[in-house]
Amino acid sequence: MSTKQTPTASLTFRLLFWSPAIAIILSAVAVPGGLLIFGLPLLALGYFLFAVLAQNGDGSREPAVQPARVHDDPRPRARKGALTMSKANTTRPVRPDPEPTSPLNAIEVHGLSKTYHGGVEAVKAIDFEVAASEVFGLLGPNGAGKSTTIGMLTTTIKPTGGSARLAGFDVAKQPLAARSVSSVVFQEPVVDRSLTGRRNLDLHARLWRVEPREAKARIAELAHTLGLTELLDRPVGSYSGGERRRLEIARALVSQPRVLFLDEPTVGLDPRIRAELLDVIARLRDRTEMTILLTTHYLDEAEKLCDRLAIIHQGEIVALDTPAALLAGLGREIVELRVSGDAEAALASLRSHGIVDGDGFAVGSTLTLPLHERSAAEAIAAIDGTGLATSSISTRQPTLDDVYLRLTGGRIHEAA
Ligand SMILES: Nc1ncnc2c1ncn2[C@@H]1O[C@H](COP(=O)(O)OP(=O)(O)OP(=O)(O)O)[C@@H](O)[C@H]1O
Ligand SMILES: [Mg+2]
Repeated sequence: MSTKQTPTASLTFRLLFWSPAIAIILSAVAVPGGLLIFGLPLLALGYFLFAVLAQNGDGSREPAVQPARVHDDPRPRARKGALTMSKANTTRPVRPDPEPTSPLNAIEVHGLSKTYHGGVEAVKAIDFEVAASEVFGLLGPNGAGKSTTIGMLTTTIKPTGGSARLAGFDVAKQPLAARSVSSVVFQEPVVDRSLTGRRNLDLHARLWRVEPREAKARIAELAHTLGLTELLDRPVGSYSGGERRRLEIARALVSQPRVLFLDEPTVGLDPRIRAELLDVIARLRDRTEMTILLTTHYLDEAEKLCDRLAIIHQGEIVALDTPAALLAGLGREIVELRVSGDAEAALASLRSHGIVDGDGFAVGSTLTLPLHERSAAEAIAAIDGTGLATSSISTRQPTLDDVYLRLTGGRIHEAA
């Protein structure tokens, strides 16, 4: 909330503050008994006005909270044009003025939980923080709790435990403020198919109280960046899946959010459109101070875009680090072998021979064995020595898929 006052507001404020006292003195002097007749009601009126002004602080008549405006914003707002992405503007945007105190996390999640009616524990007391400008990935198998987490952070799903803040605003206690600083591209499309793309964007801009002229300029620029210019005046029902997805992203960006949530932004897109969209998201990351939280099943995508990743499994965060650190946990080389019999039994046998640590895992009939200190030749010789029947054996470098499968592949209690 600004504490600055305009000179006029300041003068009005002072006059109103002193007027009851002046009125009391004048009435007491001029009329016997005037103190009672005029003074006391004026005194009451004066202090009522004083109380109202003190609440608004700057003497303005704006209500304390409006749906899509924030007055008690704890951080300086990004400068106008901060999300500018046109090709002509290839420089990084101007960053907001330095923070008076240490920068806030854009997202703070503490013990956040959701148990749906019927007892499904979709999210179980998760904790994480996302720094301003960071791109954070939430990975996990179907039903892991990713969309539920995004739902709680975007105030569409009510948490049953814990708390979460967006740019300092509590999503449960200050939902309007939290919503006003964020935008979301949901897993399911939300644009209105009967309206044109332009009308959809325009409606969203109005809901977020973007000034009309500014909205027009932003829509034109976003349409250009996302390759939508030629489509904007067609009904969305006539768009292809990829075109509609790009419109969804444009819609989310019209309000220049500080925090952008993307729930599986590239699912169902052909490889070319997917690559184009990834480029758009990467450009956003590089050119703005927007914080992005995205969910995906594509690990290459997560590795390319995200500064840090959290892997969520059955409602719990089972790993959280940079892609490089997550990979480093598996060492430099992996032996992969296919077995003809029971893969779990084969893995247990290799463990009992000390050939693999706790981080080896089986998916189907394939065993993945991180080597750590041991050389591949030594490991293969040791496997041969156990007499295990294998149909193929090879070595390779670990990938993020290995990290993901190790943590979510069904034997989490062993892997963790
Ligand atoms: N409204 C609901 N009522 C009851 N259970 C629900 C509801 N919505 C989600 N769930 C359950 O909560 C769990 C987490 O669902 P969620 O949609 O968050 O998973 P997800 O990680 O986004 O999965 P996906 O990758 O398939 O999108 C699932 O078991 C799901 O069936
Ligand atoms: Mg989901």
